Amino acid sequence: IKCIGVLTSGGDAPGMNAAIRAVTRAAIYNNIEVKGIMRGYRGLIFDEIIPFRSNSVSNIIQQGGTILKTARCKEFMSVEGRQIAYEAMQREGIDALVVIGGDGSLTGARILAQEHNIPIVGLPGTIDNDLNGTDMTIGYDTALNTIMEAVDKIRDTASSHERLFFIEVMGRECGYLALNGAIATGAEAAIIPERMYGTDQLGELISQGFRKSKNSSLVLVTEGDITGGAMAMAERVKKEYPQYDVRVTILGHLQRGGSPTATDRILASRMGAAAIDALLDDQRNVMIGIQNDQLVYVPFSKAIKKNKPINENLVNTLKILSI
Ligand code: F6P
Repeated sequence: IKCIGVLTSGGDAPGMNAAIRAVTRAAIYNNIEVKGIMRGYRGLIFDEIIPFRSNSVSNIIQQGGTILKTARCKEFMSVEGRQIAYEAMQREGIDALVVIGGDGSLTGARILAQEHNIPIVGLPGTIDNDLNGTDMTIGYDTALNTIMEAVDKIRDTASSHERLFFIEVMGRECGYLALNGAIATGAEAAIIPERMYGTDQLGELISQGFRKSKNSSLVLVTEGDITGGAMAMAERVKKEYPQYDVRVTILGHLQRGGSPTATDRILASRMGAAAIDALLDDQRNVMIGIQNDQLVYVPFSKAIKKNKPINENLVNTLKILSI
């Protein structure tokens, strides 16, 4: 491999810049040329490809977002679009790709690699922590810390007014942000997609009495179609239990921003360097994961399966500690 392309795609995540830096520097260290592809797969289709040097990635390890910009690219979803992307790679002399993103981005990578026989290595870049085969994704720890700081603030007003707060966090179909966010803030409960089937989590909570000895309650809710979101929870409580003074806060995109934590910077740096090792090692169509502090190769097909199990131990811990 003489030249690689690096891109970020899908929702941005803090630590993506640290990953771009690590990929770039590790490649140059191994005498591999690097090209930065702007706006995810769009950059391949619309020819926004920039030669990267070591100093192209100076001063970015501490920055949130992604210097390469990101997009969810419609054109890339068609065979014709991917053909154009492949031709751009050939023209630019790009022999392999490093794709930093979530499940949609790695799904795209998998299809491109299959159709055109290109070596691609993925890095899990998403705050959702919803990729299989890795204990953590790049951006998750920072988002969790952001949630913690926000919920700590909400706690002050919740307890002063003796209110019940439903706080909606991101995560799509994955409850890690809500569950660990609830443990980290001492919240009463987390309503998560993984436990929606066959369990009325809100009903359980109500029947146990939200407050017990407490005068305020915080409940973290994963966004999305499966849980129905925090607004729906609040409406139900207002109707069935008018004695509670209910409020809703949707944390939204502030969860995606900010300077990455040390954990995310180190994770992104290790994974970025490992992506180059993987390519030199003739690996292809794998995502770099981390399991018990060891870097591992996870086939794309496994990484993107939408069934990451929630850690039941965390569910129990939250339950025990919220009595
Ligand atoms: O995948 C990251 C994520 O932030 C999800 O948690 C959220 O559902 C989604 O992206 C929001 O996407 P957008 O920024 O396109 O509204």
